[in-house]
Amino acid sequence: MGKGSGYGKVILFGEHFVVYGMPGIVSAIDSTDAEVTKAVKGINIKDERKTAKGYSEKKRLQQIESIERMLKAMEVDPKIGLDIWIGGSLPGFSGLGASAASSVAIAKAIAQELSLQIPDERINQIAYEAEKAYAGNPSGIDNTAATYGGLMWFKKSMASGPDTVEKLHMRKPVEIVIGSTGKVANTKAMVEGVAERKKKNPQKYDPLFKQAESLAVAGRRALEASDLKKLGDLMNENHRLLQEIGISSKELDMLVDLARKQGAFGAKLTGGGGGGCMIALTPGKDLQGKVLSAIKSLGFEVLGTKIGVNPY
Ligand code: MEV
Repeated sequence: MGKGSGYGKVILFGEHFVVYGMPGIVSAIDSTDAEVTKAVKGINIKDERKTAKGYSEKKRLQQIESIERMLKAMEVDPKIGLDIWIGGSLPGFSGLGASAASSVAIAKAIAQELSLQIPDERINQIAYEAEKAYAGNPSGIDNTAATYGGLMWFKKSMASGPDTVEKLHMRKPVEIVIGSTGKVANTKAMVEGVAERKKKNPQKYDPLFKQAESLAVAGRRALEASDLKKLGDLMNENHRLLQEIGISSKELDMLVDLARKQGAFGAKLTGGGGGGCMIALTPGKDLQGKVLSAIKSLGFEVLGTKIGVNPY
């Protein structure tokens, strides 16, 4: 049996804008594990992740396409039979990079089962190919976070060169709360929607993209100085930009407002939007617990974790 795992992530700055070469800041969170065994025939998936209702069903076709893309990128016979088990502590909620985390986990497990020596750099490229099934035209931020973990600065290369990936440090890990709207979102449709609206209305969108770039730069400075008040304010500002490009939702805005009212330093949607998850910056166990309980009391799924923890 081959085993592998990949990190989930939260984006602190720059989702959607990263697709167009703006910088983004991402932190790895919990991970997805995979186990793979050769089978007589077919790709047989047993998905035991905790998920939002309907997640596995809605993602099923994209998941199959992603594995086909993965096998092609790995130059493995597409007719191979494989039993694939997926589990781990990262929940299958939209917005947390669950698809990229599972792609990295599965690619590593396949490599181990087939005795292929594949370095992480190549695993990352393979997961990028697989991610196209879920995101259409992905920036690469999710698979990069899923492969290496940690806290990082990511800038997609818009030419043929490599993406810019830099490790970031905080003085100490900081508590966050993740709230899930419970709505399964289609990242591909969200990315395509932004592309269409941007094309139709460059006068509105171009300045917003410039602002997103400045925000990420300021966010990096605040993060590296552990200026958490500033970091929270900038996250709030990032949420406003995401609202303007049309990717927030009623539930996301409601959870973001609720978290801020409970004292979160900042809150924003995270990932593709249109449902999925939001994050709140809640330094200290007390504040984290307060925001967590408030969201939970309304019947939403929550996850309390930290940014700046995992190695890279
Ligand atoms: C999804 O986690 C992040 C998006 O920016 C898509 C991508 O960068 O590939 C929405």
